[in-house]
Amino acid sequence: MKKFSIFILALSFALILSACGTSTDKSEGDKESKKLRVVTDAAYAPFEYMDKGEIVGFDVDFLKAVAKEAGYEYELVHVAFEPLLLEVKDKTADIGISAITINDERKQTYDFSVPYFLSTNKILVPEGSDIKNAADLKDKVVAVQSSTTGQEAVEKLLGKNNKNIKKFENTNLAIMELTSNGADAVVADNTVVEEYAKNNPDKKLIVIEDKGSFEPEYYGLAFPKDSKLKADFDKAINTLYDNGTYAKIYQEWFKSEPDTEDLKTQQKK
Ligand code: ARG
Repeated sequence: MKKFSIFILALSFALILSACGTSTDKSEGDKESKKLRVVTDAAYAPFEYMDKGEIVGFDVDFLKAVAKEAGYEYELVHVAFEPLLLEVKDKTADIGISAITINDERKQTYDFSVPYFLSTNKILVPEGSDIKNAADLKDKVVAVQSSTTGQEAVEKLLGKNNKNIKKFENTNLAIMELTSNGADAVVADNTVVEEYAKNNPDKKLIVIEDKGSFEPEYYGLAFPKDSKLKADFDKAINTLYDNGTYAKIYQEWFKSEPDTEDLKTQQKK
């Protein structure tokens, strides 16, 4: 009996010690291995969206491959689009990934990786709409996601403080405004509106391209200014271009071949 209680005592000690061990190890370990905080707006299928409580999408698989290649551990957190831009700006996050367009204005606040995806804004309208191009958006109610290049493009067409521009926290809400007749059109990234129209045939929506009004855009990972991560991630992205991993992930999501040569050429600009 005595032996047994000594054994129990020893065992509890061991348990207490090991519990202490793991808890301190874990918090220190995270700091030492620099688990990166990566922020996103997971309401932008097929790039990042929630599926059964998990963030999935092309960006998510791309990030996973790039971080692995670059040798970094990370935690991907959904914070929404404007908060993510703020976090990267304020350096409370290490990376933003969210189909983020690289442009001159943003370059003043962020450092971007090399481009990893070609995109452009397009117009989503109900079938039978009299909107046929960007100029037709004038005097129409247009829903956009706040702080996106879609908002910027529509402001250029309609005027910056035009009340006909309805701004939403995410693109899904902008599309809901359209499908519930609160707006005549949505302007957002082509892949996102095309995917929505295709996956929701009952909504009877069509996508309009207007190359004269909407420029080609390239997505990049956003880093805080002067982040040391950029060099490692750029190198890793280029490795994925060269070893076929990028094309494989692209194929899985878009069922077509990426123009990797074009993406590489953009780096030289
Ligand atoms: N490419 C556009 C931009 O950078 C839209 C990005 C929106 N991304 C998102 N996950 N909601 O402004």
